[in-house]
Amino acid sequence: MRARRGGAARPTAMPVGSVQVMRLGAGGIGDLLALTELFDHPLDKVAAREYLARPENLLLVAYRSGRPVGYLRGTALRQLHTRRPQMFLYEIAVLPRHQRQGVGRTLVEALLAYCRTNDFEEAFVLTDDPANVAAHGLYLATGGVTETVGERMYVYRFPRERSPADREPLRPRPRR
Ligand SMILES: CC(C)(COP(=O)(O)OP(=O)(O)OC[C@H]1O[C@@H](n2cnc3c(N)ncnc32)[C@H](O)[C@@H]1OP(=O)(O)O)[C@@H](O)C(=O)NCCC(=O)NCCS
Repeated sequence: MRARRGGAARPTAMPVGSVQVMRLGAGGIGDLLALTELFDHPLDKVAAREYLARPENLLLVAYRSGRPVGYLRGTALRQLHTRRPQMFLYEIAVLPRHQRQGVGRTLVEALLAYCRTNDFEEAFVLTDDPANVAAHGLYLATGGVTETVGERMYVYRFPRERSPADREPLRPRPRR
């Protein structure tokens, strides 16, 4: 699969065995709605459309018999030491009744194929739960390696204290 600039209008077909994987474009919201039970938060259609329209974002959906059964999303990150990007695999989930049937593996392999085709330096994923044997098993089974002993992610939150309209615009500091 090749990167599409400006966001794909329609899904890009990536057939792999009995599971078909497609990259969703900005018009693919309907397929995401079919996977609502997998999301931590309700989908905001405007936000989701804008997300899908960004070329650095990759949202892959796995289909079985034409129905969405799982998804993965990742974002391409630019680096300072090389023009080759990194892929941050941000999340992956498969509907419970379709788990342990190769769907997650097919999604990860499709992402890795995309990265190889588009000359990424590496892909990475963070697991914040050492007890998630399915996630660890999936990443190991698809060739992932750990580089740190404690696999943890630190999160910094930025709660909104005022409405966006009240907020001062950010201005560069004057040079002294
Ligand atoms: C993690 C997840 C996406 C795996 O998807 P899946 O479709 O069930 O995975 P696959 O069937 O493709 O499994 C591929 C390999 O991963 C490993 N694996 C998957 N589930 C496993 C489990 N429950 N226990 C141990 N190994 C497991 C196995 O090595 C498996 O290969 P095998 O079936 O030949 O033994 C799925 O369990 C899920 O949606 N979990 C909830 C969301 C989640 O935890 N996401 C990851 C957050 S970091």
